[in-house]
Amino acid sequence: MRLVSVSLRDFRGYESAAAELGDGLTIITGPNGAGKTNLLEGLYFGCTGRSCRTTNEREVVRFGQSATRVVVHAIGEDGEHELSVGFQPGQPKRMRVDGAAVERMLDVAQRPLLSVFLPDRLELVKGAPSLRRAHLDQFVAALWPARAGTRRAYAQALAQRNALIARIRAGSAGVDSLRSWDVQLARHAIALMADRSAAVATIAEPFVRCCAELGLDGDVAIAYRPRCRGDDIEQLCAELAERTPGDLERGFTGHGPHRDDVVAVRNGRELRAYGSQGQQRLSLLALLLAERRALSERRNAPPVMLLDDVMSELDARRRRALVDILRASGGQSLITATELEQIPAGEGDVQRIEVVSGRLLAPAGAR
Ligand SMILES: Nc1ncnc2c1ncn2[C@@H]1O[C@H](COP(=O)(O)OP(=O)(O)OP(=O)(O)O)[C@@H](O)[C@H]1O
Ligand SMILES: [Mg+2]
Repeated sequence: MRLVSVSLRDFRGYESAAAELGDGLTIITGPNGAGKTNLLEGLYFGCTGRSCRTTNEREVVRFGQSATRVVVHAIGEDGEHELSVGFQPGQPKRMRVDGAAVERMLDVAQRPLLSVFLPDRLELVKGAPSLRRAHLDQFVAALWPARAGTRRAYAQALAQRNALIARIRAGSAGVDSLRSWDVQLARHAIALMADRSAAVATIAEPFVRCCAELGLDGDVAIAYRPRCRGDDIEQLCAELAERTPGDLERGFTGHGPHRDDVVAVRNGRELRAYGSQGQQRLSLLALLLAERRALSERRNAPPVMLLDDVMSELDARRRRALVDILRASGGQSLITATELEQIPAGEGDVQRIEVVSGRLLAPAGAR
């Protein structure tokens, strides 16, 4: 699936804007505050129905306006598709694919996959494990769309067990009633852990390679770190039973894959705790690029990379390495920078977009 164009109406600083995207690299330049990040966000909004920048979606509607609308055109093996998202705060979002209303863009098969690097995504490396779990589960769903339900099934079973714990604490149910729920929870937990483990296995080797190519030196690795020790229903039930007194005291289930993590290490130490800013940045890029390789190989669907302000903290060698990797792996990438010189893309197949105070210009001479 290839993105062809995006058009924005009353999205952030854009009153009305449209851009064509390149088959390979699209370079978006402009001064601070011009609207580069807004353009990436708009594209993301049009493809997913969500913002990659904020959970307060009201923010994306242009000041003084009541609604926004984003339309994306994409071409897949089965022809051209139009995705559109209309949003008026306080009202349900209106999302359409080829004119037909859809409930969730994320469930749409014709939707292009996106991989986003924003400066604040460094939280994925540095922040709470919940962010990494959510990211890993999204990657599982991208790799194997049919398995997207595993996580939901586990979350439901967990909610039910927690509800039962509340009833036991209130005296309206007996502790023994937990045992049959433990079997259910354990069954879904094993499926979820198997998916997560298999997904991390697909990126383990590409991660090491991408780190080397990006110039993150040292002995690096990425690993899935499940909370549970056991890997069959009986062992998991035993682990849950062992912790039941603690669960009853706390009022919720404290053990299981909802406490899993993914760790990136360099020379035996977690990058999250010991990595420099630059090393953390590179490890995040390596992670996203490794996922992209895995998705290209397994689904022939390299996600479109949205790379915001990625160059500003990389040295010249690593900037070049990043461009080389993006080129070599095929697929589309959009990169923003304040100065064109920050992106050593040469004269090759590049689409350029210049942003000037909320307006898009395709510079003369650009393809
Ligand atoms: N809802 C909105 N309505 C109108 N303008 C908005 C809205 N939200 C943000 N802006 C404006 O968008 C501009 C920021 O755009 P953006 O973040 O895309 O800039 P940028 O080109 O990425 O800059 P930088 O190089 O500093 O990252 C700001 O001037 C801000 O006031
Ligand atoms: Mg920006």
